[in-house]
Amino acid sequence: MRVTMIGSGYVGLVSGACFADFGHEVICVDVNQQKVDDLKQGRIPIYEPGLDALVASNAAAGRISFTTDLASAVADADAVFIAVGTPSRRGDGHADLSYVRAAAKEIAQAIGRYTVVVTKSTVPVGTGDVVEHIIRETRPDAEFSVVSNPEFLREGAAIEDFKRPDRVVIGANDERAKTVMAELYRPLSLNAAPILFTDRRTAELTKYAANAFLATKITFINEIADLCEEVGADVQLVARGIGMDKRIGSKFLNAGPGYGGSCFPKDTLALIRSAQDYGVSLRVVESVVAVNDARKTAMARKVVRACGGSVQGKTVAVLGLTFKPNTDDMRDAPAINIIDALQRAGAKIRAHDPVGMDQAKAVLHNVTYTDSAYDCAAGADVLVLVTEWDAYRALDLKRLHQVMKGAVIVDLRNVYREEEVARAGFEYIRVGAMPKLGKANEPKANEPAA
Ligand code: NAD
Ligand code: UDX
Repeated sequence: MRVTMIGSGYVGLVSGACFADFGHEVICVDVNQQKVDDLKQGRIPIYEPGLDALVASNAAAGRISFTTDLASAVADADAVFIAVGTPSRRGDGHADLSYVRAAAKEIAQAIGRYTVVVTKSTVPVGTGDVVEHIIRETRPDAEFSVVSNPEFLREGAAIEDFKRPDRVVIGANDERAKTVMAELYRPLSLNAAPILFTDRRTAELTKYAANAFLATKITFINEIADLCEEVGADVQLVARGIGMDKRIGSKFLNAGPGYGGSCFPKDTLALIRSAQDYGVSLRVVESVVAVNDARKTAMARKVVRACGGSVQGKTVAVLGLTFKPNTDDMRDAPAINIIDALQRAGAKIRAHDPVGMDQAKAVLHNVTYTDSAYDCAAGADVLVLVTEWDAYRALDLKRLHQVMKGAVIVDLRNVYREEEVARAGFEYIRVGAMPKLGKANEPKANEPAA
């Protein structure tokens, strides 16, 4: 089948490359000339494990190509996916649909034959109706259907998630569109991926509900982690204990510095706002957003406490800047707020990230970037692990101890073993457990404001 992707970012590029790998003929479109030029040269503009090889092999086989010329890419397509950004609208937190609307208008002008227009971007309920309306107004003669097919892939595991998803959700209001979508996803159903057909509005809401639920799960365990620290329980064991219950499930129960990224923060907010438009308050999701926002400064306060109550003039070494490992994405990364709060409390920041430092430079200021974890730790009073890159799991703790001025590790991702860290001479403070070794619960003076 002929598939066109409008928007060649994380979602458009990964979905396009995977559809091509399944044998479809894919054209990826983007307005960003530089991005398209890079892709044509085989340079992948984002860091996503395995994506360069997948794009290269399918480009060599002639199954994927890149262009800025939307009209010619749409004219002969069976399915056109809208995979443009839907960021938070400044000021009110609604999803900004301007890119979706613009894409719909351009698609309308170019439709040549019966085409299924598929919204893959995460959009509020009713956006399919808006897209349909724009196309009908622009081209009353066009033969088309509008389908919602939200994407559930995670950055860093995007190819695997796309090729072996827990499910594919397709919201289609007519049989002709359903047939096209079923054919498009046939290779995935051969991989035993269940395909759930719904109406369009249900599919749109399913995506927001899934993200809000996952954000809630993380926020819940983060609050339990806070309680563990006070009562002397261990959140990792609590998570294991509750996760063994199949009704709860073991995934997304890792306590940490709060969720970040390009999806959860903006999607929880957009869901709250669109519910309000219908007169509904989603009080659970509203609490999740507030608790998660507060958590990042709470993590900075944890570092201050670890430093004896003040970081004024002290050097904090931060390991990991991206919102999660295996991505270079800095969008809403907890590191941004944590570093900002520490700087306001007078700390000097040294930082390292395996791939995210270029992106970090655009959002973080007055940070000394370093070439390795050891270089980052050199002369620091405290080491803070913010993102659990594999490269930080097997660090030589004795060597870290030698190069640092202080001897405190604050592990916001619970990756180290307390005994090993203590053996290397460190005081070890993690999330969701009272430190057994070293000085616990130091004074709470001079903390950055929440
Ligand atoms: P992105 O910013 O990485 O990519 C969007 C791309 O669309 C950009 O390259 C931009 O130049 C291009 N674009 C904008 N307007 C265009 C137009 N009119 N024609 C052609 N190209 C255009 O965004 P993303 O992270 O891929 O997210 C896209 C959508 O998918 C969002 O709605 C997001 O919420 C959703 N989503 C993202 C993820 C994720 O992990 N990133 C996962 C699931 C769903
Ligand atoms: C998320 C959804 O998982 C995915 O289905 C959707 O399509 C896009 O949004 P992504 O943002 O790429 O994916 O990463 P994810 O692995 O979900 O992590 C999001 C944030 O939650 C990260 O900051 C991560 O560190 C945090 N997290 C995740 C936790 O703190 N604990 C966990 O147990 C899991």
